Amino acid sequence: MTTTAKKLFIKTYGCQMNVYDSKRMADVLAPAGYALTDTPEDAHMVILNTCHIREKAAEKVYSELGRLKPLKDHMAQKGERMIIGVAGCVAQAEGREMVRRAPVVDLVFGPQTYHRLPDMVSRLTAGGDVARMVDTDFPVEEKFDFLPAESSDDGPSRFLTIQEGCDKFCTYCVVPYTRGAEYSRPAAAVIAEAERMAASGAREITLLGQNVNAYHGAGPDGTVWSLGRLIRRLAEIEGIARLRYTTSHPKDVDDELIAAHAEVPQLVPFLHLPVQAGADRVLKEMNRHHTADDYRRIAGKLKAARPGLELSSDFIVGFPGETDAEFEETLKLAEEMEFISAFSFKFSPRPGTPAATAGDQVPEEVKSARLTALQAQLDRRQKAFNQSLVGREMTILVERQGRHEGQLVGRSPWMQPVHFEGARFETAYGRLATVRITSAFANSLHAELLAVEGDVEHHQGCAAPGGPSSEKVEVRV
Ligand code: SAH
Ligand code: SF4
Ligand code: F3S
Repeated sequence: MTTTAKKLFIKTYGCQMNVYDSKRMADVLAPAGYALTDTPEDAHMVILNTCHIREKAAEKVYSELGRLKPLKDHMAQKGERMIIGVAGCVAQAEGREMVRRAPVVDLVFGPQTYHRLPDMVSRLTAGGDVARMVDTDFPVEEKFDFLPAESSDDGPSRFLTIQEGCDKFCTYCVVPYTRGAEYSRPAAAVIAEAERMAASGAREITLLGQNVNAYHGAGPDGTVWSLGRLIRRLAEIEGIARLRYTTSHPKDVDDELIAAHAEVPQLVPFLHLPVQAGADRVLKEMNRHHTADDYRRIAGKLKAARPGLELSSDFIVGFPGETDAEFEETLKLAEEMEFISAFSFKFSPRPGTPAATAGDQVPEEVKSARLTALQAQLDRRQKAFNQSLVGREMTILVERQGRHEGQLVGRSPWMQPVHFEGARFETAYGRLATVRITSAFANSLHAELLAVEGDVEHHQGCAAPGGPSSEKVEVRV
């Protein structure tokens, strides 16, 4: 294989775990000479990292592949080869069917095999026109063990996958089939990766897993660590000012995790905790293993542990058999819980899941009407929450430049982008800043700057007063 620079284009769909995976795919391909580019034109390799969670996911991938065909032909006319790979959850679900249906595809590989990418690519390129390849095993050896330590990831806010797969088998969901059984990375590997991230400028880490609070990784002390335990350890890392985790299941919120919310200041007072529906019968049919009251209780404990903690959620409307009265219970629970943001979806029958073939499917127009009603209510609450922040001081993490001259953008603990002026990007980037909110919009906030944390190089993990290891600004949210 030659080491001259080759262009790699990755398009990512779906959840943050796919975002993390795409970054790691770029990392494993870098030693083979591939460098990321922003467009598929002239790319030597194009990877579609796909999601299968809802609606016609596979169809969308096939049409995207159709659009890539002329680009691939154009490369061939120039005497160059464009390798087209399909990764992620659609690849896992479709497997061999994909190479059969889409001759433009060279490689199909699932979420657990991308550490073998360099090998797949060299086998493809070695013999000229080698047969196309499909690799959708759930390998016994763990992909994480084979990923390079070095990561191209940068910016102050990073994703770190600590857990993969799901054993919950909610009756509507494809994830247990596309990502496989639950697996937790050993705590030592997670800590080492977080330390490398901190050393390269990370200030915020979001721990990822399809069911992240089911984490039960081998601890360095020979015991099994829960997520709460892991969070406490990660909070000790110099420079890490904020920790988040997503996505959680209500049933796996244990006392150690609740205690972490009470005692770890770096853990933001915000949690995405999907509830899906408000009626117990529907929750049971969904195989969620919790009732609406269980959810209320868990939310209450979390809010008691960390004053000011806010929740966001996911909802599915029109699950098979859901009645108007049951949908009303969803509206009621959503109102009561005062979620500050939420994702809501129409039930989408996924091939191979039990709910897809249930007899009592809800008509499309009923699903649409319910979605509109729920979203209107959730949007009202989101706006009201944003409005309630006007006049408040808070700590944000400065992440990027704004669209207007001199404008900077940071993120609040509750994920809203906060626009402000009055600091130089070069000095404020990657630092915590204290701001006062001056106006609120549907999805963002504007603020006046009060202070940027101390003038220290965050790369050095310096413990100077007001430096990155200082928690004093962060806890005042
Ligand atoms: N593991 C997480 C999230 C999984 S997928 C959890 O348990 O909450 C993200 C969201 O997609 C889910 O929370 C659910 O609201 C939605 N979703 C999953 N399958 C769906 C389906 N078949 N139809 C509609 N929405 C779905
Ligand atoms: Fe899907 Fe349920 Fe697992 Fe979440 S907990 S990934 S919704 S099966
Ligand atoms: Fe989609 Fe797979 Fe994530 S189905 S939501 S990319 S786990």
